[in-house]
Amino acid sequence: GKGAAMVTAVAYRLADQTRQIAQTLAEFQLSKDQLLEIKKRMRTEIQNGLGKDTHEKATVKMLPTFVRSTPDGSENGDFLALDLGGTNFRVLLVKIRSGKRRTVEMHNKIYAIPKEVMQGTGEELFDHIVYCISDFLDYMGMKNARLPLGFTFSFPCKQTSLDAGILVTWTKGFKATDCEGEDVVELLREGIKRKEEFELDVVAVVNDTVGTMMTCAYEEPTCEIGLIAGTGSNACYMEEMRNIETVDGDKGRMCVNMEWGAFGDNGCLDDIRTEYDRAVDENSLNEGKQRYEKMCSGMYLGEIVRNILIDLTKRGFLFRGQISETLKTRGIFETKFLSQIESDRLALLQVRAILQQLGLDSTCDDSIIVKEVCGTVSHRAAQICGAGMAAIVDKIRENRGLDHLDITVGVDGTLYKLHPHFSGIMHQTVKELAPNCDVTFLLSEDGSGKGAALITAVGCRQREQEQQ
Ligand code: GLC
Repeated sequence: GKGAAMVTAVAYRLADQTRQIAQTLAEFQLSKDQLLEIKKRMRTEIQNGLGKDTHEKATVKMLPTFVRSTPDGSENGDFLALDLGGTNFRVLLVKIRSGKRRTVEMHNKIYAIPKEVMQGTGEELFDHIVYCISDFLDYMGMKNARLPLGFTFSFPCKQTSLDAGILVTWTKGFKATDCEGEDVVELLREGIKRKEEFELDVVAVVNDTVGTMMTCAYEEPTCEIGLIAGTGSNACYMEEMRNIETVDGDKGRMCVNMEWGAFGDNGCLDDIRTEYDRAVDENSLNEGKQRYEKMCSGMYLGEIVRNILIDLTKRGFLFRGQISETLKTRGIFETKFLSQIESDRLALLQVRAILQQLGLDSTCDDSIIVKEVCGTVSHRAAQICGAGMAAIVDKIRENRGLDHLDITVGVDGTLYKLHPHFSGIMHQTVKELAPNCDVTFLLSEDGSGKGAALITAVGCRQREQEQQ
């Protein structure tokens, strides 16, 4: 009868809907061959970044850091560290003691950087930073100490020495004027001078990947790679000097900050990017830039999810076809929410509660779809991050002429630490794509602060030796 026909019609519609959703998400599923292809392309871009004639046009910049060795345990002293460019801005006091019982003691304070300051003038940004340092020194009672300082500045910088770094371009949520093309160490020194309240000795500018590698290397000497999977995505590793054609000298190794987030900016990943990736890019502060980062870091995963949800809603598959104001809001799905939604310990009812918290009314079916979308996006992110890592470990293995390499990667970042599946999928991918390497991942506790202090300690020692 009529009832049966209606049931059949509904069943058809549901089946068709399920098929269409699956089809949409299938674009995010990468085969092993595709992942191997990504690894291969990363390798090509690495080569371009390192080469004398190719560096200028290269997208993956492979920036020299002037860090020539990992710590050896003899580092000693009190240091100030700044950490700018991650989820929080922090000022730290780090006390490193060498000897039989090595210790590192840290005190830190977190400061907010309002969006207006992140995207205002350079002078305002650095005045704010100096204001925070001043507050911290007051808090610690150390205004008169003239401490050596390590500046973890997690953006691409062209370095000519340990204590000079010209900002190539802002990434992530920053866009302060008059900084690109400038030496950020000078900008900091000028800010300190303007304030006329205290003196500091800025010894090193450090990328967060490098700080992370150094922190882990302090405990584990086989750590020669640093990885950040957080707000942004990037890696560094110890490369042979003879391969770094942009720096004079052939002896030993130097850490290179890859700036792999820019991988794909020449179009070499276009075949795997989806319409949602393109939408995220178009709505970002830096259109056309950091395309790989926009597929695999915390600041953008939620945006990819949101764009898919909007599309599925428009097509009538979600939220009763109603696009709410919330869903139109940029940045609602922070890493911590994605991580909660994907947690296997959470019942669907709890997923709905999270969506409710975000201001999204969902049915049970909606919540199933949302969870699936999140899972698909973060799965791809972990896989392509793993493909990049596979390219690095194989490069190091070949550098050393080995059939087999054992190596440790120091890792930090909210996505790696908070997400329930990201790390596991990433590890698995590296294993599959680089079968000749045994890669151990070591979580770095507070790599940015501790690492900056360790590098500053090495920098101070080098300077003393040069003066002798
Ligand atoms: C962005 C920055 C890079 C940093 C990474 C992780 O990719 O350009 O310097 O290491 O984010 O914070």
